[in-house]
Amino acid sequence: MPSSNIYESPRLLDEYLLFHYAKESEILPTSEIPYPSAMREALGFTQRTVGHFDNKPVAHGLDLGCAVGASTFAMAENCAAVIGIDFSHAFINAADRLRCGEVISFHRHDEAMLQKILSTNVIATELREKVNFEQGDAMNLRADLGGFDRVHAANLLCRLTNPNDLLEKFPSLVKLGGELIIATPCTWLQEFTPPQHWPAPDTFSWLRKQLEKNFTLELSTHEPFLIRETARKFQWSLSQLTKWRRHA
Ligand SMILES: C[S@@+](CC[C@H](N)C(=O)[O-])C[C@H]1O[C@@H](n2cnc3c(N)ncnc32)[C@H](O)[C@@H]1O
Repeated sequence: MPSSNIYESPRLLDEYLLFHYAKESEILPTSEIPYPSAMREALGFTQRTVGHFDNKPVAHGLDLGCAVGASTFAMAENCAAVIGIDFSHAFINAADRLRCGEVISFHRHDEAMLQKILSTNVIATELREKVNFEQGDAMNLRADLGGFDRVHAANLLCRLTNPNDLLEKFPSLVKLGGELIIATPCTWLQEFTPPQHWPAPDTFSWLRKQLEKNFTLELSTHEPFLIRETARKFQWSLSQLTKWRRHA
């Protein structure tokens, strides 16, 4: 079982709605503060990771640890049907409201009691119609989930109590010839993952060792992302992104 439910909190829901759906001018309103340009380059993470899939239409996609769903909707641009799964009921509830065509209001926290209310846009109907969201545990997925042409797991592995359980499941989740994208900032923390389940000697070597029997590594790169906590406190992180194709 996952150890933490910080992702159920209203504060994290606000931060993730802002991270996934706010405009650049809402995350970095430079009329007020001269934010460094590297911060701007870290925006759009949910679209950039999905952008590493092949640029051709496929039938089925799976977005694991989808949070409030922006990457799931992005996958629907090139998938006939996509399932987004996350352990957080609060995140899946928000994602599903967006799937139904709702606009969601959320708070951007600036400092102390100072906050601004922002809203998502309505997601395009042609994307909403191809997406479904469900609450679930990536380490214990329902048996009848089936196989997928594309699987996306961004910034999920180091939030799992036993990430190896998911790595072992990938060969049955990804169809032969299908693509798997894993992004991880490798922020291994005891509060999420007991140290005996941390990768060794490093995350990339561990991924290769666990996946190479069934998958060919096609790409290894780095994708920055930016999560705004307040007007003057952000998480700037660099995710290590690998793209794999199932060969066996
Ligand atoms: C760091 S966030 C990343 C979310 C999203 N992929 C993104 O890039 O913005 C980690 C996500 O994993 C989810 N999560 C944690 N444990 C999980 C589990 N066992 N199964 C599915 N999702 C899980 C959390 O609820 C959270 O939405």
